[in-house]
Amino acid sequence: MDIGAYRSPALDRRLPACLRLLRVPTAECARDLMERRPELIAAVLGTILIGVSDFFRDPSVFAEIERKVLPRLLALRERVRICSIGCSSGQELYSMAMLAAEASALDRVELLGLDRRPEAIACAARGRFSKGEVARLSPGRVERFFEPDGAGWRVRPYLASALSWRSADLISLRAEEPWDLILCRNLLIYIRPDRASAVWESLCASLTPGGFLVTGKAEKAPAGLPLIRLAPSIYRLRP
Ligand SMILES: C[S@@+](CC[C@H](N)C(=O)[O-])C[C@H]1O[C@@H](n2cnc3c(N)ncnc32)[C@H](O)[C@@H]1O
Repeated sequence: MDIGAYRSPALDRRLPACLRLLRVPTAECARDLMERRPELIAAVLGTILIGVSDFFRDPSVFAEIERKVLPRLLALRERVRICSIGCSSGQELYSMAMLAAEASALDRVELLGLDRRPEAIACAARGRFSKGEVARLSPGRVERFFEPDGAGWRVRPYLASALSWRSADLISLRAEEPWDLILCRNLLIYIRPDRASAVWESLCASLTPGGFLVTGKAEKAPAGLPLIRLAPSIYRLRP
């Protein structure tokens, strides 16, 4: 992992949790230990990379996706390719799957979630969420898309089987085939400004002409990219 691409204040705040996990006093000791025991790296990433997420996080952005972005893509293409980069435990991509199902188009979308933390990907693929995690969804959505699972809820198989998950690093990502809609939200804020422009360029290169990029509220596209801002957090690649 290219840790040099991340803003240092964000990393500094997470370092104590990492040292506590490894039970070592310094970053140098942590590095030595991980070199000897690389199986610890996945757990260490879980302390360093912040994975906070939610279903339909920033409801106004998802309302715009529901009203404008998804219908436009479904009108233009037979199959719509959607990717969530930095998907954490999957709430963002499951939200997109719910919108596609509500538009009767689940069989026309390809949904892929990518994250650098293998543990987050495993959690997303399990599709199990606590009562608290689904609490902000409407009762109708919970009923339609989830089934009871112990003390919590599990995404119903017909929805879960429409999604794929993979561990991948945004910093070195090269799209094999471009996406019609990329959600890359609340990840770029952790990347150093001098490294972020290359990441924005690679996101643009990973979009189909006229494709959409959805970012987090605090993430603004740098000037000079072929992106048109349609609404807060929503950009379109110039066709
Ligand atoms: C704060 S969460 C955001 C989750 C979701 N996108 C949202 O907005 O609700 C950021 C996620 O980005 C992931 N991440 C951080 N650096 C990454 C990288 N270089 N490549 C892929 N994922 C990364 C973290 O593991 C974490 O799950």
